[in-house]
Amino acid sequence: MASCLLLLSPLILLLLLISASRSTSDSNPTNGFCSVEYDGELSSSSGRILIKQGTVVNAHHMEVADVYIEDGIIVSVRPNIAVGDDVKVIDAAGKYVMPGGIDPHAHLEMDFMGSVTIDDFYTGQAAALAGGTTMHIDFVNPSNGTLSAGFASYKVKAEKSVMDYGFHMVITKWDDAISEEMELMVKENGINSFKFFMAYKGSVMINDELLLQGLEKCKSLGALAMVHAENGDGVVVGQRRMIDLGITGPEGHALSRPPVLEGEATARAIRLASFVNTPLYVVHVMSIDAMEEIAKARQSGQRVIGEPVVSGLTLDESRLWNSDFTTAAKYVMSPPIRKAGHDIALQNALAAGILQLVGTDHCTFNSTQKLLGYGDFRKIPNGVNGIEERMHLIWDTMVESGKITASDYVRITSTECAKIFNIYPRKGAILEGSDADVIVLNPNASFRISAISHHSRSDTNVYEGRTGKGKVEVTISGGRVVWEDENLKVTAGSGKYIKMPPFGYLFNGIDQADARYLASLNAPVLR
Ligand code: URP
Ligand code: ZN
Ligand code: ZN
Repeated sequence: MASCLLLLSPLILLLLLISASRSTSDSNPTNGFCSVEYDGELSSSSGRILIKQGTVVNAHHMEVADVYIEDGIIVSVRPNIAVGDDVKVIDAAGKYVMPGGIDPHAHLEMDFMGSVTIDDFYTGQAAALAGGTTMHIDFVNPSNGTLSAGFASYKVKAEKSVMDYGFHMVITKWDDAISEEMELMVKENGINSFKFFMAYKGSVMINDELLLQGLEKCKSLGALAMVHAENGDGVVVGQRRMIDLGITGPEGHALSRPPVLEGEATARAIRLASFVNTPLYVVHVMSIDAMEEIAKARQSGQRVIGEPVVSGLTLDESRLWNSDFTTAAKYVMSPPIRKAGHDIALQNALAAGILQLVGTDHCTFNSTQKLLGYGDFRKIPNGVNGIEERMHLIWDTMVESGKITASDYVRITSTECAKIFNIYPRKGAILEGSDADVIVLNPNASFRISAISHHSRSDTNVYEGRTGKGKVEVTISGGRVVWEDENLKVTAGSGKYIKMPPFGYLFNGIDQADARYLASLNAPVLR
């Protein structure tokens, strides 16, 4: 690809780049859509399903049992449930029956770095369902400087949803209006988390003053503060250093924002959250440096959640040095995928409970869009895929390898996310009364990942060629069988917006800690 491009005239190159910046639907026309059907109907016999004799896995317990579903709800979980002929029966003997995955971190149809992510709420969610994820939480960016306009625009984007979803909200500036809107988002719109970018200087980056204001506001609302932790000023210096050295390709991305910048920002955010005494959620933990800051804070009793993502857990940076631009550029995301060794350390931290749940940061740009940064890595749209691959890769990397149990797997892919964002046990559990978002995973079957067969709209896949054990054979979303026998059957508009109430479990005890702090001051001194 690189050598091809060198032969192109500047005019053709310019036209290519313009089309890249607009492109939202020109990739992967075959598999992304042919296997996805709009049918407008409930696809299983009037919503009554019996999953027979599987090993039902919850984060707290595992047992061989049947699971009976009616009208989108799990009605019964016990052995030997008898049903009539009008019920669809799924034989799960020898297989695991688990809550559908919840992905805490995705960016569908997001305007970012001069482009729009290629997967929208239809294709991205269809891909998720094919991979066993039944809910995701997306990040709403403000629109025209207001949170309300941003929220309204994402509600429109999500009209074609094929599975349930929730929203985090991004805060990029501070004034009284934003502060009031945060309250509105929490009290009326079902948002209980706000994200602050400590990088991307000149676009969404915030400074420490804003972060402190945001942390205090989050605390008062019972909303969780989330951070993208990289030192944004340091990134700019690192980028300039690479450009001055003549390093303009994708490897410059990794070299310009090393782990030390992620570790510094993670430590800073943790200390500011400690100063405010409010919980903190660190998104996409990519390095040992950041993970160790989280470990230290948690050991000292601070409420800090660390979210590694599939790319950081299963890939290393060597691919950014590939001599083919298209191949190297597809791995550009921030913070960068790190040197080999960080991946294993993050896996071990996840197994040890130092990190709590796994996201994807699914933020997919196709190879034409990635061309925007040909000749200048700073312009390559940042982001990789993962929403379809997460459940398989985590099973293979963590359970099949013996690092964690099936119950741990449910905890890190579903339950913990539901608990943190305060929607448990409606989501994240196979319990009577929970939503019927369920997967059947066959531990003896294998998966193979390829852009040829995946359901994302992108023409590339960062896990191309990966194989492993453990295959999601059935996905049930909202009581409908949407993935079975390698066939997707989804209905645009069937996904529901899940409101997430404030004051989740991370806020328990915050008042008492504040009271202890006030009592410890011994001030003001009466004079
Ligand atoms: O490279 C990434 N991570 N793209 C998505 C935006 C973000 O920082 O989460
Ligand atoms: Zn981020
Ligand atoms: Zn992200």
